[in-house]
Amino acid sequence: MLLKSTRTLEEMVPVLSNKSLGEGVDLKSPVYWVFSSVSKQWENMTLISPGDFNGEFPKTFGHYHSSDTTERYKLLSGKGILLMQKRQFIDDDWQINRIEKIYFVEFLPGNELDITREWGHSWSNIGNEPLVTLDNWRDGHTPGDYKPIEDMGGMGYFLVKKDGGAEFIPNTKYKDLPKPEWITADEFNRINSL
Ligand SMILES: [Fe+2]
Repeated sequence: MLLKSTRTLEEMVPVLSNKSLGEGVDLKSPVYWVFSSVSKQWENMTLISPGDFNGEFPKTFGHYHSSDTTERYKLLSGKGILLMQKRQFIDDDWQINRIEKIYFVEFLPGNELDITREWGHSWSNIGNEPLVTLDNWRDGHTPGDYKPIEDMGGMGYFLVKKDGGAEFIPNTKYKDLPKPEWITADEFNRINSL
């Protein structure tokens, strides 16, 4: 197993709900780590620290895929939400600011889910322990996988702490953002296989 990348808070600023973190914040502190060559079945393992940044739950940057391979994710441990947003394909191109569907997918350890090319995705750690996920993505990433999310200042919604639970704040840079739906990983798989 190899350490593939470490995302610091500084690198996450472009996609945070509140992009001004104030003073006394260590911008070099890691938010999540990605390990590669994990096992025969799983290529990557991602570990996201618990905590919050101005109330927003720690999360992965968010990306789309530039190949048609299906990615499989599994939650190994922790309490996580996978934000999934379906981009539209209009005039022979993927639209970065038009989303036709958004799900907050609740995972229990052991749950798995398949992701196809139209779905942007980002994990949030809503628990008090590290969130550990596995995936089988071996096609690599290009900067273009992350750029649509960076250009939009994040995914369609930001997940923040509220009264001991979570609430979502819309990212107003998106046009006609649909209301998100909360579903389980099993429900998502069922809907997507129809
Ligand atoms: Fe992915």
